[in-house]
Amino acid sequence: MTMTEPAASPVQRTPSRKSVLMCRPEHFTVSYRINPWMHPEDPTSTATAVAQWEVLYRTYLDLGFDVQLIDPVEGLPDMVYAANGGFVLDGKAYGASFTYAERQPEGPAYMDWFAAQGYEVHRPVEVNEGEGDFLLVGDVILAGQGFRSASNSHQELASIFGREVVSLQLVNPSFYHLDTAIAVLDDGRGTAPANIAYLPAAFDEPSLEILRERYPDAILVTEEDAAVLGLNSFSDGYNVVIASRAKDFERQLRERGYNPIGVDLSELLLGGGGVKCCTLELRR
Ligand code: ARG
Repeated sequence: MTMTEPAASPVQRTPSRKSVLMCRPEHFTVSYRINPWMHPEDPTSTATAVAQWEVLYRTYLDLGFDVQLIDPVEGLPDMVYAANGGFVLDGKAYGASFTYAERQPEGPAYMDWFAAQGYEVHRPVEVNEGEGDFLLVGDVILAGQGFRSASNSHQELASIFGREVVSLQLVNPSFYHLDTAIAVLDDGRGTAPANIAYLPAAFDEPSLEILRERYPDAILVTEEDAAVLGLNSFSDGYNVVIASRAKDFERQLRERGYNPIGVDLSELLLGGGGVKCCTLELRR
């Protein structure tokens, strides 16, 4: 045979239209330290944070997403990390109850927004940081513990949404929220099977066993990509918005038939957050 075989065509990926909530970082700064990324002694630029965030916002609009905005509150510099504002599914919003005093007022601010939008708001009893630690993958909610959300919040979550909740133990303080260690590539609501990407070193051995068994086709990312919060990304099932510096992750996504879109959120990384942290998915 003289002709070269065509390369096996990757899976046909179909984007779904996402609805998300974001918060413009008008009051962003790093004035306290609640994760290893934060260095209050170093200068930050609110203008740069806003400009970088605007690119992410535009990217979502260009992808056809429905993007809702919550008003930023002065004195709450971390409010830009909307993922922590709650967990929203089936028209219900489970409010956040933050670990650290500095962020506690964000909980009611987000709950007020959910209520005003007609969501059935569930006030939290247990400490939890919303979609930072809770990720919907297919019919299951993966739930992180170890640094922020308390294990009791996993039961609270299960009882509110009536879904199976799978607890995972985070062990590396740099990857303190589940959404810094796992990216949901396919949420299983479209045609493709649910799938994820993750950093193995962020989990203890029993959690790794669960991940290996449930997601044999998962993408494993390098420490280097995880260290720029490459996993902290947002996928619509085809387009995956990621940190532009996560080069190997980008390559792996392309190989699997996804369309990675790189954005630079270096200023927001100074607060310990990236793409996903700035994004809370709204599911009616
Ligand atoms: N400075 C914030 C904190 O430490 C960053 C939150 C990042 N959010 C996330 N979903 N990972 O709480």
